Amino acid sequence: FKESTGFPKDFLWGSASAAYQVEGAWAEDGKKPSVWDKFVRIPGKTFKATTGDKAVDHYHMYKEDVRLMAEMGLKTYRFSIAWSRIYPDGNGQVNEKGLQFYDDLINECLKYNIVPMVTVYHWDLPQALEDQYHGWEDRRIVDDFVNYATTLFKRYGDRVKHWIILNEQNVFTGHGWMLAKHPPGKFKDMKTYYQVNHHAFMAHAKSVLALKELYPDALVGSSFAYGPAYAVSDKPEDQMACVDYEDLKSYYWMDVYAYGRYPRSAMKYLESLGVAPHFEEGDAEILKEAASKVDFMGVNYYKTCSIEYNPLDGVDSLGGENNTGKKGTAEMEGVPGMYKVPANKNLPTTDWDWTIDPMGLRFACRKITSRYDLPIVISENGLGAFDKLEDGKIHDSYRIEYLRNHIEELKKACDDGCRILAYCTWSYTDLLSWLNGYQKRYGFVYVDRDEDENSGTLKRIPKDSYYWYKKVIETNGEEL
Ligand code: BG6
Repeated sequence: FKESTGFPKDFLWGSASAAYQVEGAWAEDGKKPSVWDKFVRIPGKTFKATTGDKAVDHYHMYKEDVRLMAEMGLKTYRFSIAWSRIYPDGNGQVNEKGLQFYDDLINECLKYNIVPMVTVYHWDLPQALEDQYHGWEDRRIVDDFVNYATTLFKRYGDRVKHWIILNEQNVFTGHGWMLAKHPPGKFKDMKTYYQVNHHAFMAHAKSVLALKELYPDALVGSSFAYGPAYAVSDKPEDQMACVDYEDLKSYYWMDVYAYGRYPRSAMKYLESLGVAPHFEEGDAEILKEAASKVDFMGVNYYKTCSIEYNPLDGVDSLGGENNTGKKGTAEMEGVPGMYKVPANKNLPTTDWDWTIDPMGLRFACRKITSRYDLPIVISENGLGAFDKLEDGKIHDSYRIEYLRNHIEELKKACDDGCRILAYCTWSYTDLLSWLNGYQKRYGFVYVDRDEDENSGTLKRIPKDSYYWYKKVIETNGEEL
């Protein structure tokens, strides 16, 4: 028997968004295109060719959105900053109007005692940097990123204490360079993929150091899309496959954030393939120093996966996730001689075939706590579903159930001794799901619009889950 201590008193009940998915105003007030603005215009890339040109117009409606957050009692709002609003060309001339927008948003949050939690990079690289030197593929990205990040720290650091440098580095690099589903849309070039990751790690590390130099008391980390792995059986080869998978697909990122070094076995494997990243002099030291200053592990948790030994003549793919958006496509992916990723028959799935596994959240927290002993910010967790308006309302009992079950497990993680600082649901309002348009909704607040750019009134309608989460916050997670 273990006594429940529940959530800490100052727990940050939150919700999250990303600039490209909510803001719209894609070419306003000096902003220039990001790689997403260009990518979505390539035929066949997104559901019904949806763009984020208008998104849910948070850029113009942020005051109403923040007021709804305040009425709900939200403690923290996690949002990202669009790099090409601040530096339209990625570097060079700073855009005061862009800076002003986030000043206003931050101040609006603070007016209601909502803690702003700022993501520096949620995938919307300025297109100009892609044009200048292929963005993340070139080492020059590191200095440009740190310059951009430092501009934000200097401008907002007096009011923003919580910083997430990179959102899901594993996803934007994997989808961008291995699966060709995100910009720049390249396919299975492992050498480039690992070099891109090294540049991103360096950008993360140097930004952490720059922030701590300016604001030693700021709290900083990056957010990892963590899908914990279960071996399918107690056969030693399945268990070993799971160790291989975790080193390559999870610890490869989290170890660098927390320890400042790559997992030894993963590096050995990459060296044997001739695809290990190139280090410049001093990189190893910088990664280490930054890791010693990281304050938390950011975790975006949606699902777990199952791992099975994959014979040498087995499934040959690079172990990407099943993010096809098609129902019932349990792709078998893997690396011959190491692992494959079969569907987990013990778990239900969402309409987009993602496993629903509340205990996986506790599992993730326990694993991170055991391995890194770092505090944790759950920076995303939520259910994408087809919400339907009925008499002007959204009765999303399925979302309430999903969140309730996950929060219950998170509470157990607190009881286990994990230091959880915040829980941000994905998402606050409905927003543009990168590849799935507006059919896949995540928010507490319904937004009246669909894939047709001229559709909808953009009216905000709180769903049943909005009122439910309000109670959760009021009772600090006691009433679920
Ligand atoms: C995370 C991202 O990967 O998952 C979000 O950080 C994203 O930006 C979320 O929207 C859900 O993914 P999807 O594909 O369902 O929109």
